[in-house]
Amino acid sequence: MVTHIEQIGEASLSRAKAILEEGGAVAFPTETVYGLGADARNDAAVAGIYRIKGRPSDNPLIVHVHKDYDIEKLVYDDRPYAKKLREAFLPGPLTLVYRSCGAVCGRVSCGLDTLAVRVPSHEGAQRFLRYVDMPVAAPSANISKHISPVSAEHVYEDLNGRIELILDGGRCSGGIESTVCDVTGEYPVVLRSGLVSAEMIAEVAGRCEIYVPKSGEQVRSPGMKYKHYAPKCSTKLFDASKVQLAVDEFKKLTAKGMNVYVLCEEDVKAFFPKEKVLDLGESEREMAANLYELLHEGERLADILIAVEPKKKDGIMAGVINRLTKACAEE
Ligand code: TXA
Ligand code: MG
Repeated sequence: MVTHIEQIGEASLSRAKAILEEGGAVAFPTETVYGLGADARNDAAVAGIYRIKGRPSDNPLIVHVHKDYDIEKLVYDDRPYAKKLREAFLPGPLTLVYRSCGAVCGRVSCGLDTLAVRVPSHEGAQRFLRYVDMPVAAPSANISKHISPVSAEHVYEDLNGRIELILDGGRCSGGIESTVCDVTGEYPVVLRSGLVSAEMIAEVAGRCEIYVPKSGEQVRSPGMKYKHYAPKCSTKLFDASKVQLAVDEFKKLTAKGMNVYVLCEEDVKAFFPKEKVLDLGESEREMAANLYELLHEGERLADILIAVEPKKKDGIMAGVINRLTKACAEE
């Protein structure tokens, strides 16, 4: 199969719609990462997404809709605070998990009685979702466990030959996946951190918890249990307070003849040779926006990537640290 990258326009959207109507999958941009979309009502099409990505069959998908879509066609929306969250943050990088009313095929949620719904703010995503006029189930458009794509080229690297069409909407501005927040209970619970922080949600809803799976419990967001976002090169992660250890490791590996790069925040970069630093930047938003781009660059350039965790851990950084830790995890 030949994979085409096309700018978003009448011709490419019409082609995208035809592919989805035939049960195929199309990659499209969002403000967080690129998605791999299929018709959420078509079981075979949704099965195709899992096959294309090599995704574990127990990790549910998010359904994407345009901003005027009536979500009551998809879910029971019975929590007043959920409405407040939608008004405050949507369209935007916040996915809400509701009780499903069974309008999309069961495979989307892997048999759970809930459904995750997202309204992306990216203009190209909105155009696409309005044009195809259907609920679109979409995970990130990468091979399972690899780094999520933040450009059409990243999608192409992973999915070339596996899909027909990548809609190109430029580089994603957000850089990490949406916050996933369960709104089925008395108060919101963050299942995956992202650009809408738990603190921001608490401000609007009055309360917000961050879900921590208890040992032995069946996880509420099945995606959490897998290694993710990993570059193809080896990685080593150092705590923010252990910069000296990272410097020693850098010197040791370089002396062995290895090509070592360092991923770190602005503050820390002076400890390493300038040409070997992948600079995450300074502000929280910059670090989120740069993370996957730099992990992609790291795997292209390095034998081994040393990452030094940024110091700040709350707010948006909870999401950045979560992705970085998983990208550098053992298995
Ligand atoms: O920003 C994003 O969310 C991107 C773009 C493409 O929209 N999508 C994305 O999808 O990151 P994916 O499939 O890579 O991650 C979906 C996450 C997983 O952690 C999954 O476990 C969780 O959402 N999820 C989906 N449906 C769920 C449900 N019904 N209950 C709990 N967690 C759910
Ligand atoms: Mg993903």
